[in-house]
Amino acid sequence: MVNAIQTPSQNTTTRPRISFLGCGYLGATYAICFAELGYEVIGYDVDAAKIEAFASGVLPIHEPGLPELLKKNLETGRLRFTTDVKDVAEFADVHFICVGTPQRQGEHGADLSYIESSVVELSAHLTRKVLIVGKSTVPVGTASWVQELVDRHTPEGLGVEVGWSPEFLQESNAMHDVLRPNRIVYAAQSEWASRLLKDVHRGILELAAVEDREVPVVETDLATAELVKVAANAFLSTKISFINAMADLCEVTGGDVADLAKAIGYDQRIGNKFLRAGIGFGGGCLPKDIRALSARAGELGVGESFRFLDEVDAVNTRRRSQVVRHVADLAERPTGPNGPDLSGVRVAYLGATFKPDTDDIRDSPALAIARRLRACRADVVVYDPEGLENAKSAAPELSFVKTLAEAVAGADVVCAMVPWEEFRTLDPEALGQQVAERRILDGMNAFDPAQWTKHGWTYKGIGR
Ligand code: UDX
Repeated sequence: MVNAIQTPSQNTTTRPRISFLGCGYLGATYAICFAELGYEVIGYDVDAAKIEAFASGVLPIHEPGLPELLKKNLETGRLRFTTDVKDVAEFADVHFICVGTPQRQGEHGADLSYIESSVVELSAHLTRKVLIVGKSTVPVGTASWVQELVDRHTPEGLGVEVGWSPEFLQESNAMHDVLRPNRIVYAAQSEWASRLLKDVHRGILELAAVEDREVPVVETDLATAELVKVAANAFLSTKISFINAMADLCEVTGGDVADLAKAIGYDQRIGNKFLRAGIGFGGGCLPKDIRALSARAGELGVGESFRFLDEVDAVNTRRRSQVVRHVADLAERPTGPNGPDLSGVRVAYLGATFKPDTDDIRDSPALAIARRLRACRADVVVYDPEGLENAKSAAPELSFVKTLAEAVAGADVVCAMVPWEEFRTLDPEALGQQVAERRILDGMNAFDPAQWTKHGWTYKGIGR
């Protein structure tokens, strides 16, 4: 469980007033957490319904610990939300741009239209010198372009500057990642901006000092600050695809990728994180970020050096058809050139989100595989602790149930796909009594195969 702060610092003399433009996962979490750190904060979004929800203390996303922190900080008066950009422009000394940078339709590059509209809107309403800091994940070179936009759209002579400070928050751990980050990275173009960025991050460093922790600060140039984020996500993606490629090798040789990951992970140069083989990575960041990085590298003439990222992507998406084949094998249905025919196979499908402890289904491997199974005519009954509503609107062809018991009743195959606590702790004997056939696909690689086979299950993991 993430800890809130007991007593935020009351020293506001060196605390600039902050705005966060874009109240998605990123902006909302930052706004709430910076209020918790003692800053006066305003959150801005063009989506009136979302702003209304935040302002009335309702968090429209699932993120552990954050609803309580939202309510608490609305009550302090340090946190408010608005759709009025003029209000934002008047209020804050530092404006963080936190809008989405999705993959462009039909291309691999990033769509920067939300960055452009938010910066132009804000710039037109500024009446004094402020600092605009990019936090969204962007192709390298965006910061300079944002500075040009600002220069073009602010009243003459204001001298508004652009800085950059990437974020590294992981959904389901977002509050912790903002309050207690493992590093702070920022870039400023002048002494004035550098000082302001120090003041902005002072609250995090003070909290760390109270808790006897160190938070490394890397101050760098704009291009590096932009690159740090995509480099981190590309590295993490590569680790996951690497272990998934090893899983493929384990499958054909009878090896066990979970043991392999454990064994190589003891080498501290490798580390044991992000080495869980499974159904592949998804979410609103890793897939789109590696594509955007590869596309940007191509534009800059170094595409060849990043061709491996296209392979990282390909290994990842191939998981999906591999898993469908595993389900067909478990159901004893042959896989032809057009995939298996799974008609009449009832699949209890556990998990729809891209990872546990979130309701986010963006680029979710679990949901994509469920849809493929349905396209192979399986009767797919999906249960997810928090993602049902989002999954239902994205994949209306699937059946959804509100409890695990309903999903597994009479199932021919159980697919446990997302390592929610509720699934990781499943008891093989109790579950066996509810299904029609004891066959399980462990897409999470979270179970002990011996335990399940002991209880009469045909067990299939990924790469084991
Ligand atoms: C990621 C980065 O971790 C974060 O630093 C950045 O700011 C945003 O992108 P997030 O998208 O929240 O965060 O998800 P993350 O926890 O990184 O997981 C991404 C995907 O990788 C999930 O689908 C997850 O299930 C998968 N994954 C993760 C694996 O398949 N194996 C692993 O070992 C770890």
